[in-house]
Amino acid sequence: MMTDAMISDAVHDGAARGRARAVLDGLWRPGLEFLGSEVAILGGAMSWVSERHLVSAISNAGGFGVIACGAMTPERLAEEIEATQALTTRPFGVNLITMHPALDRLVDVCLERKVGHIVLAGGVPTGATIKKIRDGGARVVGFAPALALGKRLVKMGVEALVIEGSEAGGHVGPVSLTVLAQEILPHLKSVPVFVAGGLGRGDALLSYLELGASGGQLGTRFAAAAESIAHENFKKAFMRASARDALTSVQLDERFPVIPVRGLTNAGSKAFLACQAEALRRFQAGEVSREDAQLSIEHFWAGALRRAVIEGDVETGSVMAGQSVGMVKVIEPVATILHDLVEQAVDALVLRDERASR
Ligand SMILES: Cc1cc2nc3c(=O)[nH]c(=O)nc-3n(C[C@H](O)[C@H](O)[C@H](O)COP(=O)(O)O)c2cc1C
Repeated sequence: MMTDAMISDAVHDGAARGRARAVLDGLWRPGLEFLGSEVAILGGAMSWVSERHLVSAISNAGGFGVIACGAMTPERLAEEIEATQALTTRPFGVNLITMHPALDRLVDVCLERKVGHIVLAGGVPTGATIKKIRDGGARVVGFAPALALGKRLVKMGVEALVIEGSEAGGHVGPVSLTVLAQEILPHLKSVPVFVAGGLGRGDALLSYLELGASGGQLGTRFAAAAESIAHENFKKAFMRASARDALTSVQLDERFPVIPVRGLTNAGSKAFLACQAEALRRFQAGEVSREDAQLSIEHFWAGALRRAVIEGDVETGSVMAGQSVGMVKVIEPVATILHDLVEQAVDALVLRDERASR
């Protein structure tokens, strides 16, 4: 039986948590309003992973799912958007790669299907693309790898930004989120800014909200969620890995640039070094031109993410993963991941209140 003191404690705890949740909602309000979701957490687009099932699961659980268009054709993207709309009535977005040869048509496909938010990744978008999206009634999100570029994107009409630190999985820039956040958040307040890269806990996300972020974006943790269609081998590799296993691809020679991609080291990443060494040797021996040597390096990973995610070849495939992979311990539903993130932020706020009133 509960005593009066126990009831009073429970009521007090409930009220404290309610106040903390209100503080959290206040901190990420611009993000909530921009996304139209219950929690300002985006599921970062992941090629092959962020399809109808994961995207709708994230949106249905109160977050904001984003379809990864990647190299899809306009017809395939149309199919994926419609299938996602059949699984959720909540808002979700589509991530388009700016250098996709059919970018204009992909934008049309999104606008025709009333997608509310388009995230433009993989380079600086043109003013014409941004205008087309806004005129078509959707909202535009861009990536800011530095303050100056963030300001430029906002001037060009981008309505929200993602700042992604080098801790993230997939293609990454050179600067960590810790530093990017300090460089950008205090100086860019006119649009919501979402932080990404290395986030695995809600209390960590809270610290960025307090620096001025309007929400966060996670990829790695959602890739291993129950609703993710990633192969069992892919998810198991995530559960086994620690942060130090998620490394960026290594470039052997400055004449042959390699785009940094963070993923789990495996036989494939070792073979990639051998491939670069062989290309370098053949170039130096005059057997191939510099262009052909570069092409052989660039072609190495073609189809490798699909091989890992869909076929489960985690030995030679590209197992893209962020350093937050060390925080993936179990396969759990998206709703549990989102719930835990919010609870961890609320716990941190309650603890702070208790410390302040001591
Ligand atoms: C397997 C995988 C594939 C990814 N593919 C893409 C992509 O196609 N486009 C993109 O903009 N970001 C991509 N990302 C980055 C995520 O959208 C997200 O920003 C990142 O995962 C956040 O960092 P975290 O992994 O530490 O949570 C990918 C990440 C992973 C792990």
